Amino acid sequence: MTTASSTAPAAAPPRAAQPRHANPQPASPKQASPQQARPLTTFFLQFLANPGMLGSFTPSSAHFAEEMVKTLDFHPGARIAEYGAGTGAFTKLILERMHTSSTFFTIERNPALAEQLRLRFPNLHIHIASAEEVDRLCQLESVEQLDAVVCGLPWASFPESLQIKLLEATARVLRPGGQLITCGYPLGLMLPAGRRFYKLLPRFFASIQSSGLVFRNWPPGFVVRCRKPGTPPPSH
Ligand SMILES: C[S@@+](CC[C@H](N)C(=O)[O-])C[C@H]1O[C@@H](n2cnc3c(N)ncnc32)[C@H](O)[C@@H]1O
Repeated sequence: MTTASSTAPAAAPPRAAQPRHANPQPASPKQASPQQARPLTTFFLQFLANPGMLGSFTPSSAHFAEEMVKTLDFHPGARIAEYGAGTGAFTKLILERMHTSSTFFTIERNPALAEQLRLRFPNLHIHIASAEEVDRLCQLESVEQLDAVVCGLPWASFPESLQIKLLEATARVLRPGGQLITCGYPLGLMLPAGRRFYKLLPRFFASIQSSGLVFRNWPPGFVVRCRKPGTPPPSH
């Protein structure tokens, strides 16, 4: 059962979002055959067409994905969203590790990449939309708040207004103590928009920690782990 809801034109006809709490995904996600999914080619072609939207010409490596998810809390019932899933480098690990009672959905703005995701992970809940719309998508997913957001968005390509809208929406949907795990590249820190993004983070998060550089990725990148103030409610 695949879910792809869309507010943008989709490469394939979108399917209706299904009201749900727990994902029906199997513990080991079903993957499409290589003939169907062409993540590398699609990613590169989409980068040529929309460099600012993708921010990188290759998907993240398995090593980088491991660094992204290694501190993610996969407790039973965890509610997790992923922004900018691309062809699913982080998605794959989240699907493999999350508890069957968890809720997980992805938001990907690029319809061609969303289609690759759908081919790779037929059971995944995919919303073809901008991550700014996360409040509305949480409602569609019947989730009041999220425990974590995993995010591969190219922050250093975004104008300040979009950075602020995305951070505001993320801070609204995360529960007290909830986590935003995102990433960047040293080149991004040289750009004014990249530097501005890191200066904005303390407005929204109480704790911000950056990993060292992960060299087994092209380009080498780092992971940024941010936590909202507060502790989780007693049920968590
Ligand atoms: C650097 S790529 C990361 C892809 C993937 N997470 C990875 O690490 O390989 C950035 C992704 O963010 C998506 N994206 C850009 N702006 C977005 C937005 N406003 N909302 C949702 N996705 C967006 C792009 O289409 C692209 O898939």
